[in-house]
Amino acid sequence: MHDEGMGLMTRDKGQLNVGLIGTGFMGKCHALAFRAAPAVFPHLPKLNLATLADIDPDVARDAADTFGFAGSTSDWRTLVEDPAIDIVAITSPNFLHQAMAEAAIQAGKHVYCEKPLALDAAGAKAMTTAAEAAGVKTLVGYNYLHNPAIKLAKDILDSGEIGEIVHFRGAHFEDYLASPDTPFTWRSSKAQSGAGVVADLGSHIISLARRLVDEIAAVQAMLEIVVKERPLADKPEDKATVEVDDQAQMLVRFRGGATGTIEASAVAAGRKMYLTFEITGSKGSLVFDQEHMNELKLFRFDQGPSRDGFKTILTGPTHPPYDRFCPAPGHGLGFNDLKVIEVAHLVDGITNGTPLDPDFRSAWQIAEVVDAAIRSDAERQWTDVNDVRS
Ligand SMILES: NC(=O)c1ccc[n+]([C@@H]2O[C@H](COP(=O)([O-])OP(=O)(O)OC[C@H]3O[C@@H](n4cnc5c(N)ncnc54)[C@H](O)[C@@H]3O)[C@@H](O)[C@H]2O)c1
Repeated sequence: MHDEGMGLMTRDKGQLNVGLIGTGFMGKCHALAFRAAPAVFPHLPKLNLATLADIDPDVARDAADTFGFAGSTSDWRTLVEDPAIDIVAITSPNFLHQAMAEAAIQAGKHVYCEKPLALDAAGAKAMTTAAEAAGVKTLVGYNYLHNPAIKLAKDILDSGEIGEIVHFRGAHFEDYLASPDTPFTWRSSKAQSGAGVVADLGSHIISLARRLVDEIAAVQAMLEIVVKERPLADKPEDKATVEVDDQAQMLVRFRGGATGTIEASAVAAGRKMYLTFEITGSKGSLVFDQEHMNELKLFRFDQGPSRDGFKTILTGPTHPPYDRFCPAPGHGLGFNDLKVIEVAHLVDGITNGTPLDPDFRSAWQIAEVVDAAIRSDAERQWTDVNDVRS
């Protein structure tokens, strides 16, 4: 049994106490990752699952039991103010991120927040300013960056193997909003989501573009609301107007001069996790698709015309940290493993001072790209992206 209130009353020097807010899709993913990370990465300190918060006390209590948290609460403020908690993980809907993170920062906690960081760039800026002033560590849940295949792609690009990057073609397509019968949720409300798929999925592909290519300097965007109304979850005969985009397209110009396209869609029939990019260099190219997340396709002109073609590289123990999960190549990691790697990165940042990326400042830069896309769409013109470098 778990009573409402603090899950752990003591602080042990060799361990970190974790408070998790939210028990939905991402809440479960974070809980599994916090449990697995010290087993997969034995150098990490013990992670105590202290308190789990959700708005419904029964849901919070059941999830705490299921995931192995010592306590639960229906009041997230109790969790963030608990002096025993070291890390606050936020997996609530977007509109709650800022208030939760700022309260946690004020209480001196390290904050691990789901993406998008805030409703808009102004919110992301306020959160970054607060975290940096307090000197706490921050990390944002752009989990796809932690795929060993992405690290390999970065190494290939940095080595110059495919020459100078001239073009990035990125997309993140899913079809979770394709059916007009899918009920209206916080994701279709401007006040609760901030923006539509341009932020929800678009921010993931933006995070990959800036990691692999460069910061985005300017965008020309076109955002659409394809499904314009949705039934209310509790009264399906009534409909609510969808307030944010479910399809987004943009031309992008990177600071270093490369150009590209970024697309995001939540209505792309048949696509489940088509987070994909093709990076064209002067000597070759790289292709990735998250539906085949253990593969990277490499093309190099220097193979000679009679051997022209893409080579498929399967990730394995030579692509860290794959070896921490499995000694055999090609057996494959999964979506939840990326969260385990992300948690290990967070804890390394807290305990060893390893630079964390994307921290709140990086996530603020991503939010600036999203904001620029929204302005560009409204004004129907090329729009510069604000530069958040300090
Ligand atoms: N990194 C990723 O790959 C990824 C994937 C999906 C969602 N997300 C992000 O994670 C966040 C949550 O998305 P989700 O799909 O898990 O949503 P969800 O609706 O499945 O879960 C949200 C949870 O927050 C809880 N909640 C709502 N109000 C609360 C309150 N006041 N106090 C405590 N708990 C409260 C809900 O009860 C629910 O358990 C969003 O910001 C979303 O963008 C990230």
